[in-house]
Amino acid sequence: ESTPSRDGKRILLAAPRGYCAGVDRAVDAVEKALELYGAPVYVRKEIVHNKFVVETLSKRGAIFVSEADEVPEGARVVFSAHGVSPAVHAQAAARNLATIDATCPLVTKVHKEAVRFAGDEYDILLIGHDGHEEVEGTHGEAPDHIQVVNGPHEVDKVEVRDPDKVIWLSQTTLSVDETMQTVRRLRERFPNLQDPPSDDICYATQNRQVAVKEFAPDSDVVIVVGSANSSNSVRLVEVALDAGAGASYRVDTSDEIDPAWLEGATTVGLTSGASVPEILVREVIDRLKELGFTGVEEVRTATEDILFSLPKNLRADLKAAG
Ligand code: F3S
Repeated sequence: ESTPSRDGKRILLAAPRGYCAGVDRAVDAVEKALELYGAPVYVRKEIVHNKFVVETLSKRGAIFVSEADEVPEGARVVFSAHGVSPAVHAQAAARNLATIDATCPLVTKVHKEAVRFAGDEYDILLIGHDGHEEVEGTHGEAPDHIQVVNGPHEVDKVEVRDPDKVIWLSQTTLSVDETMQTVRRLRERFPNLQDPPSDDICYATQNRQVAVKEFAPDSDVVIVVGSANSSNSVRLVEVALDAGAGASYRVDTSDEIDPAWLEGATTVGLTSGASVPEILVREVIDRLKELGFTGVEEVRTATEDILFSLPKNLRADLKAAG
């Protein structure tokens, strides 16, 4: 899409941006569960890390809890896109909960890698952010074999049992460049460090970073729509700055834009994290237009056509219900 600018002030709009296949599926799973089983449907943790999405689903009858033991015995609970450890599955089983697992299949892939390499007695260096739900879930698959490495600064404190049996895996939503820096430093210490069987940083994270890098050098300011706890959104701000944007800000919604950020700017880059509905980007475009950025040019660096089907048991219940 593109609209000409009236006085040279323009928005460069990243493509791809916004929803990835894993988020789309997870949000759809909660919506379908509400339609099929009726409210309330419990959801462990934020289904995806976006305030607007969580508020919208809450209004429709989803109840967000932080742990499975807050869900009434026998009720239905959805696990979020970020994945859960086996301990959480066990907790849910002990309370007789009906579970719908909306873990992104690309997170499940990393869990499977962790289980496999732990089974082969590897030390697994999981590059990721301590405390992030995805990292907690993956770590929980094999706590005795996995240590979390938050970034290059933590490489020195890593200790392994056998330096010839070490593999790195990662969170799916990291900065590609920073992760490679961590891997290089790890490899200096462990020359036989193995790479994951395939990229753990997912296609959506990678594509959104590539798009931002493309226009960041031409942007006086890059605005990223996304919530503060959304790892991939926060990374987009860092990637924009590293790639040469004059400044970069993250906003949840258009009303958080401070006109002072745009003083003297002629080009604003705009993107959104993988958990962000397009309506929030449209509202930001409208606000930027009010502020004089009347031209919109899309900068496309990839086309995405990945779709994930709904969790199996939900699909079966939907089918049975006709
Ligand atoms: Fe999955 Fe990547 Fe989205 S891991 S939830 S496709 S950001």
